[in-house]
Amino acid sequence: MTKPRVALFPGSFDPFTNGHLDLARRASALFDQVVIAVAENSAKSSLFTPQERVEMIEDAIRGLKGASAIHFSGLLVDCARRIGAQAIIRGLRAVSDFEFEFQMALMNRRLEPGVEIAFLMPSQEFTYLNSTLVKEVARHGGDISGLVPALVARRLREKLRPPAAKARAARKAPGRSG
Ligand code: PNS
Repeated sequence: MTKPRVALFPGSFDPFTNGHLDLARRASALFDQVVIAVAENSAKSSLFTPQERVEMIEDAIRGLKGASAIHFSGLLVDCARRIGAQAIIRGLRAVSDFEFEFQMALMNRRLEPGVEIAFLMPSQEFTYLNSTLVKEVARHGGDISGLVPALVARRLREKLRPPAAKARAARKAPGRSG
């Protein structure tokens, strides 16, 4: 039996966007398994916990053949070794992504020469999209439909709703206190 081709698709995914989903779909067409890995120890402070991010990703990739989600801490290459990944997938949206991605790819290759780094381009409609912008738009009540999976949109609204709106919703919700 031939060994399954496994790709690791890592990121902060805070939160997972439709651009990430586009890349996961492209990766799943190339690999037998795509493991989407949420970094716990990203230098960025995050809105969602790793567990919340994994849950939202699992919902978004339901039905995507061979795709799964995990969270990891420590070095990415150690995670790649643990899951037996032959490749690490990263997205390139624009030239501005390239420098950092190139540095990271070469460092990861130095740490683990046995894992290939593969760059995929998302569909053109997602080239401007990133998680930080989505959070910014959601925080100010802007329309994020079409930018993120449905569950992510709902969770963002819940997390970022202004306190007054949250209090109103709690008063309206039957059988709930506090
Ligand atoms: O979505 P992001 O924030 O661009 O993802 C960056 C991420 C999580 C892939 C990167 O920070 C990472 O790999 N973190 C794990 C720690 C690690 O291995 N660092 C060395 C990378 S050269």
